[in-house]
Amino acid sequence: MISTLLSRPHGPDGDPTPRLVYGADYNPEQWPREVWKDDVRLMREAGVNLVSVGIFSWARLQPTRYTWDFAWLDEVMDLLHAGGIAVDLATATASPPPWLTTAHPEILPVTASGETVWPGARQHWRPTSPVFRTHALALVRKLAERYADHPALVAWHVSNELGCHNIYDHSDDAARAFRDWLRARHTTLDGLNHAWGTAFWSQRYSDWDQILPPRLAASHPNPTQQLDFKRFSSDALKDHLRAERDVLREITPDVPVTTNFMVMGGTKGMNYPDWAAEIDFVSNDHYAHPGPQDRDELSFSANLTSGIAGGRPWFLMEHSTSAVNWQPVNVPKRHGELARDSLLHVAHGADAVSFFQWRQSAAGAEKYHSAMVPHAGPDSDVFRAVTGLGQTLRALAPVAGTEREPARVGILFDWDSWWACEQDSHPTSRLDYRQEALDWYSALLALGVRADVVTTRNDLERYDLLIAPVLHMIPAPLATRLTRYVDDGGHLVTTYFSGVVDENDHIWLGGHPGALRELLGIRIEEFGPLLDGESVPLDGAGPGTLWTDRITVTDPETEVLARYETGAYAGRPAVTRRTQGRGSAAYISTRLGVSGLVGLLPKLLATAGVESELPGPVRGSVEQAVRRDAGSRYLFLVNRTDGPVSLPGVTGEILTGRTDTQGVLVLAPREVAVLRQPNT
Ligand code: GLA
Ligand code: GLA
Repeated sequence: MISTLLSRPHGPDGDPTPRLVYGADYNPEQWPREVWKDDVRLMREAGVNLVSVGIFSWARLQPTRYTWDFAWLDEVMDLLHAGGIAVDLATATASPPPWLTTAHPEILPVTASGETVWPGARQHWRPTSPVFRTHALALVRKLAERYADHPALVAWHVSNELGCHNIYDHSDDAARAFRDWLRARHTTLDGLNHAWGTAFWSQRYSDWDQILPPRLAASHPNPTQQLDFKRFSSDALKDHLRAERDVLREITPDVPVTTNFMVMGGTKGMNYPDWAAEIDFVSNDHYAHPGPQDRDELSFSANLTSGIAGGRPWFLMEHSTSAVNWQPVNVPKRHGELARDSLLHVAHGADAVSFFQWRQSAAGAEKYHSAMVPHAGPDSDVFRAVTGLGQTLRALAPVAGTEREPARVGILFDWDSWWACEQDSHPTSRLDYRQEALDWYSALLALGVRADVVTTRNDLERYDLLIAPVLHMIPAPLATRLTRYVDDGGHLVTTYFSGVVDENDHIWLGGHPGALRELLGIRIEEFGPLLDGESVPLDGAGPGTLWTDRITVTDPETEVLARYETGAYAGRPAVTRRTQGRGSAAYISTRLGVSGLVGLLPKLLATAGVESELPGPVRGSVEQAVRRDAGSRYLFLVNRTDGPVSLPGVTGEILTGRTDTQGVLVLAPREVAVLRQPNT
């Protein structure tokens, strides 16, 4: 789908060969029109073939309530088309113009403590505002009608990063919509009272109108109210996405619709696995947060995006050529990182590489954010790297449209568990769900073992080893599914604080982890979270931090792989594994961190018969990812280190990369090589 966008019937150059898409957010409204021609010329020089246009141009397109100005966009669309560059046209609804918020301040979001989120930045709109919806859809309709037959148009880009700034709105509109949503979920007030456990603290509701979003409260707000509000808030934005999409599909049924997700560190509010079915192809934005695991996190996010996309190719809609502007300190990318970061996304299934943004702004809040054409102009290292990447992506055209080859290890990442396990009034406030999952991923990278990051919507049953870190919320059907997985010979690994609650955040009683007690063959009477700085040595792994459990083994098939050496539970089991038929279920009761997991994982991998596919000496230095089609496998080999790495014995046709004089594949620091092998 993505690789053939450029050859859509209206396509810009009529070339039907699948290709990787290369481009950027293009914001011509920030520049005088003399610059536009130069933009198109430089885009061609860089190998750009598709840009996203109009994302923040509502105020320009509709200067007042009753006036429209499309002339400038007509000209931009024509110029791009003449230059052979396709357009992913934004619906421009992301940032409502001042005339609208002045006339209708009731579209502005409200925080939990009742403050209005005023205009002045962007995305200052309530997802549930009927007034906003009416104005937004009018704009979408105008745009769709005007550009339906424009030859440059190949895709629609709904809004922008829905929920980036407006995921939680506590306004009266939100309260009304929340009640409707709750009625649909719980049917009756009794159902809601039960689900929310309102017998506690005299919270029983006798009328739907009494129910509010979790606004500023005197103490911990009801946990299930909080959880349902998270679910509702994600659904409210999904509803907006559907509303815009429906207008687009009505007017241009043949033009695919997407919206850019934010699967990356620091983003949690949008349940993307649930949104993915609403669009024609998945797009993602990714920005690395500097730190020791930053590129592992990039790989993890790209991998998870592929899982969300159901394994189909996806569109990297935004990332940065160099520094961003929104961190406390914004460090530029080092030599090689621009290409390495881009190709890591391609390795994990991206068929499009796009940046925010084309030309670095001279004014506004993002003027220090890097771009493809920096302030220095095209005579710059950044633009040379951009052009180099354009050439590499052309060389990788055969990869376009191929699928990822599934790994044998899956890491289960679950939004409900994520939302629930990090709520307040828990045994510890230090738990970081995404970090725990990332640590497992990093440990597998360090061992040179490929893993897929997946959600419960993916085919979990295909994995020989399924790691479900902190799978806190396990509704009964999921418990049954996991038990069947093990019955059928699968090897399940789970951790502390898993299987503790059901879908309403009610404890599974009788000893933890209630949903998995039988499967794991253990029973936990009490959690033993650790204080900051505390750690507990284990006799077969570790040390552990953050968490311990008071575990009793309850089944003869449960073996103890490691015990606590000191502390309140000294001598008791810390890591267990129960064998069931050909399968097994292991439990890790503490946080081992990357190095602890690197120590423990070989045992777990061996049980499942999984080994690294990389030559011994480069395990940990190189990340491998594989894409394939009927005839070929495409091996992506990513140098994770800052030094050169040699890979003896790797064969195949080199699409990008180089060999030394002995014919050995060598990766420069941070370099990515791609080899084509026959798919036998
Ligand atoms: C997000 C937005 C862009 C831009 C970038 C900057 O991804 O979608 O408009 O603000 O962040 O990193
Ligand atoms: C106070 C309150 C109780 C309970 C406990 C919990 O004592 O009176 O209702 O909340 O704190 O520690």
